Amino acid sequence: MKIQTRRTIRKYTQQPIPNELLNQLLEKASRTQTMGNLQLYSVIVTRDAECKARLAPAHFNQPMVTEAPIVLTICADFRRTTDWCLARKASPGYDNLLSFINAATDALLYTQTFCNLAEETGLGVCFLGTTVYMSQMIIDALKLPQLVFPVATLTVGWPAEKPPLTDRLPLASFVHEEHYQPYTTESIDRFYGPKEQLPDNQHFVEINNKETLAQIFTDIRYTRHDNEAISQSLLQALYAQGFLSNEDLIRAIPMTVCETRPEVLDCDVVRFQNNKEKWVAFVGLLENRPYEIFTGLMDDEEGISLPKSVTKGKIIKHVNRDGSKRYDFQFQNKRGYKTTVEGLSEKFNPEYWNYAKLISGVLRYRMPLDNVIRLVASLELYSDNINNWKSGVARALKRYIPGATVDSEEEEI
Ligand SMILES: Cc1cc2nc3c(=O)[nH]c(=O)nc-3n(C[C@H](O)[C@H](O)[C@H](O)COP(=O)(O)O)c2cc1C
Repeated sequence: MKIQTRRTIRKYTQQPIPNELLNQLLEKASRTQTMGNLQLYSVIVTRDAECKARLAPAHFNQPMVTEAPIVLTICADFRRTTDWCLARKASPGYDNLLSFINAATDALLYTQTFCNLAEETGLGVCFLGTTVYMSQMIIDALKLPQLVFPVATLTVGWPAEKPPLTDRLPLASFVHEEHYQPYTTESIDRFYGPKEQLPDNQHFVEINNKETLAQIFTDIRYTRHDNEAISQSLLQALYAQGFLSNEDLIRAIPMTVCETRPEVLDCDVVRFQNNKEKWVAFVGLLENRPYEIFTGLMDDEEGISLPKSVTKGKIIKHVNRDGSKRYDFQFQNKRGYKTTVEGLSEKFNPEYWNYAKLISGVLRYRMPLDNVIRLVASLELYSDNINNWKSGVARALKRYIPGATVDSEEEEI
C-alpha cells in the first residue's frame, strides 16, 4: 500500500499470517532509529483467543482485538537494558520519567516502522491508542515487569474492507517556516472549514445534537473528565512500573477526599528511633499518600514486634458485632504467607491511640502534610512519652514530603 492511499484497516479475513512473515517484519522494523542503539522496546505477540479476550476490555472491547489474527502490544522497555547493566557492573539510572519518554519514543518509532512494512506487504493494521487508557489491565494481562510499559497496540491481519480515505489538514496548517506562526480566527476557519463541511462530519454533529464538530471531540470523544481520570491512572501505572518515584506521584496527583475509610488500605511500615527507644509507625495510604497513622513502641511485651524485612503491608478494618472497630495489620513474608497482627489499637498505648485518631482525621481530609507536622509539633503535651510520640509521627510523615530532610537523631533504624 502506498502512503498516499494508506488507511487504517479494522476488518480482517480469516487468512492466517505466516509466522515467518511476521518475524521478518518484526526484525526488519528493528532497523528503525533507536536511542543509543539500545532498542528500548519489547513486543508482545498475542495470537491465542483467550489472551485476546483478556486484552479486549482494556481496549473498550473494540472488536478488532478479538477478530484480528494477531495483536501486537509494543512496550517501552528499560527492563532489558537495566538487567544488562546490572549483569555488567554498570549502575543503571532508568527508573524515571525521562527514561520512560525515551523508551516510549523508541517503542513508537518501532511501531510506525512496523506499520509501514506491514502495509507494504498488503497487511492491514489498526493502531489502538486505548493502550495507555487502562494500562494497568494490560500490564496485568501481559505480566509486564517493572520498567516495561505498554504504549501501543496494533491489530494486524489481511484486509477484509477498503474504507474511504480520511481527510487531512492542509500542509500550511501544521508547517511553520522559521518560527511558529500563531493561529488566528481566520486561519482556523481556513484550515478546519473543509473538514467541518464534510457530509459525514456534518451528519455526526447533527445526530449528536451538537453545534460544532469540535464539540464532538470536547464533549463526547475526548472529554476533560475522561482525560483527567485517565491521566491519574496513567500516573499510578507509571509509578507501579517503576518509572515514577513516590515523590513525583505525590506532586502530580491532586488529592481526593475519601470520607468513608476503605476496608483495606496499603500501608508503609516506618521504623525510627526516639531517645534510644525503637518505634514503629503504620502509615495507611490512599493513592500513595498518608491517610491514617498508628504509632507506638516496637516491643514484644508492650507494643509490636515485626520481622525486620517487613516494610509494607495492609491495614484492615474490622467492625465487631457490637459496632466497635478494630484495625489489623497484615503482611506477607518472602514466601507469600500472610501474618495478621490483630488489634493495632490495643497494642499501643491508649493515649497515643487517641492522638492517632485525631491526626488520622486530619490526614483523611487531606490537610497538607507540612501543616499536619506543624500541628503535631504545636500540641502542648506534658509527659516525655507523648513527646516521643510527637516526634515519631513527624518522623514518619516527613518521608512523604518531597525533598524534606529528617533530623539525624531521629534516623530510621
Ligand atoms: C494515537 C492513535 C490512537 C488511535 N486509537 C484508535 C483506536 O483506539 N481505535 C481505532 O479504531 N483507531 C484508532 N486509531 C486510528 C485512527 O482512528 C486513524 O488513524 C484516523 O482516524 C485516520 O484514519 P486513517 O488511518 O484510516 O487515515 C488511532 C490512531 C492513533 C495515531
